[in-house]
Amino acid sequence: MKPHVICHMATSLDGRIIPSRWRPDGAHSADLYDRLHDEIGCGAWVVGRVTGREFAKRDRYPAAPSAKLPRTSWIAKRDATAYAIVLDSRGKIAWGRSDLGGDPIVVVLTEQVPDAHLTALRADGVSYIFAGTTEIDLVAALDKLNRELGIARLLLEGGGVVNGSFLRSGLIDEISLLIVPAIDGASGAPALFDSINPSDVTLAPIDTLSLDSCELLEGGKVWLRYRVKATSADQTTNRDEQSSSRHQSSAVIGATPLH
Ligand SMILES: NC(=O)c1ccc[n+]([C@@H]2O[C@H](COP(=O)([O-])OP(=O)(O)OC[C@H]3O[C@@H](n4cnc5c(N)ncnc54)[C@H](OP(=O)(O)O)[C@@H]3O)[C@@H](O)[C@H]2O)c1
Repeated sequence: MKPHVICHMATSLDGRIIPSRWRPDGAHSADLYDRLHDEIGCGAWVVGRVTGREFAKRDRYPAAPSAKLPRTSWIAKRDATAYAIVLDSRGKIAWGRSDLGGDPIVVVLTEQVPDAHLTALRADGVSYIFAGTTEIDLVAALDKLNRELGIARLLLEGGGVVNGSFLRSGLIDEISLLIVPAIDGASGAPALFDSINPSDVTLAPIDTLSLDSCELLEGGKVWLRYRVKATSADQTTNRDEQSSSRHQSSAVIGATPLH
């Protein structure tokens, strides 16, 4: 079963996600963001490799020879109330810790990862699962997280590249957006939903976005919560057929009612 996925992020007015670049400086409050994280109350949360690496305590693991290990899940801690999940397809993060804020780390890997990396993860007490041969298969990863760790609700917390992958795969059920009255205003920072591949023109399969709540918070921040209804495969096919002679973006966005 797929866990219910809520994308929880803080953005500037121009939809960028690196608070240290925003002006005026200090407009963002990590404490407020974390408070909303707790209020949503999912327990488990997931981030991409770039975001995950910001929490790592080591630069690298030794590339020492290691015994061949099976490409099967290795779970250091079961029955936790929350898990910190990191998508690290090739095993680039050397943790030097086993939890983030008390939440046990679970790394999602592909089968490409060297045995020495698996050995080092075990030594750190970091759990891992596999989803995919060379690229992370998000559907398979979500299914395993549900079956093996009982995760039924999951906060997706960036960065933009991972959010974009989940969105384009139709895997996001809700969006929780803390809009901060600050502006990035320059190029180079990821957007809320981004892609690592500049030639990727895949549009999000969104049928409707329904506003659930809108709260004005301290310092002029606004907390928006939307429910996302993904376009069904049938709708996508119909729209693709209808739009074959039109420009791709106007076909999909023009047919998407926003409530
Ligand atoms: N404002 C906020 O609320 C907020 C929240 C979180 C993070 N952030 C910020 O966001 C920035 C990082 O964002 P980012 O967009 O550059 O990176 P990111 O989304 O954190 O990480 C992207 C990386 O994740 C890995 N990955 C594995 N499987 C993937 C998949 N299926 N789809 C996409 N990526 C996958 C890829 O690296 P490999 O190929 O190496 O595996 C990819 O390059 C940081 O500065 C962080 O502080 C902001």
